[in-house]
Amino acid sequence: MIRIIEAKNEKELGTLAAEQILSLIRRKPDAVLGLATGSSPLSLYAALVEAHKKGEVSFAKVKTVNLDEYVGLAPDHEQSYARFMRDHLFSLVDIDMKNTHLPDGLAADPVAECRRYDAVVDSMGGVDLQVLGIGPDGHIGFNEPADTFTDGTNLAVLADSTIDANARFFASRDEVPTRAFSMGVGQIMKAKEILMVVLGTNKADILEKALFGEVTPHVPASILQKGENVTVYCDPAAASVIRAKHPGAVTLA
Ligand code: GLP
Repeated sequence: MIRIIEAKNEKELGTLAAEQILSLIRRKPDAVLGLATGSSPLSLYAALVEAHKKGEVSFAKVKTVNLDEYVGLAPDHEQSYARFMRDHLFSLVDIDMKNTHLPDGLAADPVAECRRYDAVVDSMGGVDLQVLGIGPDGHIGFNEPADTFTDGTNLAVLADSTIDANARFFASRDEVPTRAFSMGVGQIMKAKEILMVVLGTNKADILEKALFGEVTPHVPASILQKGENVTVYCDPAAASVIRAKHPGAVTLA
């Protein structure tokens, strides 16, 4: 089942999405969180940091596994996802860094790294809540449109449109890595709860296609239609096409 919740703006989206995570951590202080990067979850992470500062939540026992990491970037590279997580969440809350996991962008043997990461995810005993964004081509993690859905951690080749979209974070397009480690679609779908955050007009069409179109690996996020507990938080711009085509499908926060 998919719930689609429209927030008034990015800040409210972050607050609402964070509330779902806070309520999980209150129920289960050692929850396993699957985390995502990108611009969409920034207000969510800011709201979690805020709640921590106010003494409303402790991450001391929380464990995390991230969706993906660029191949070739060291953990301290400005655009690595390890660095993103440290800058936007891990260094700002009381999480134990030993409980945080990402694929190793510098792994010498990519195939072995995929299997190692599968073992890490399995050792957690299941992801309680997975945070996701959606790429402009409907990708989740770095699982790009393809003829089949991926299952476990895989070495993804970034689509040209993904490189274009992510080039804004790098000095030039040539510097964007062309490959990444990504948790697979099968692995993502095993999470007990899925929380997707979506912002902006440029995601409005693909979001409608993913949530209401055919379930196909050519739109990887369409697999969410098979999820049992999926909540999509969007801003008015991202929700606009769904609101126009499927009146009543969107709940206003
Ligand atoms: C990247 C990430 C995805 C993310 C997507 C959208 O490619 N690998 O996990 O969801 O971009 O990013 P943004 O939120 O910046 O639009």
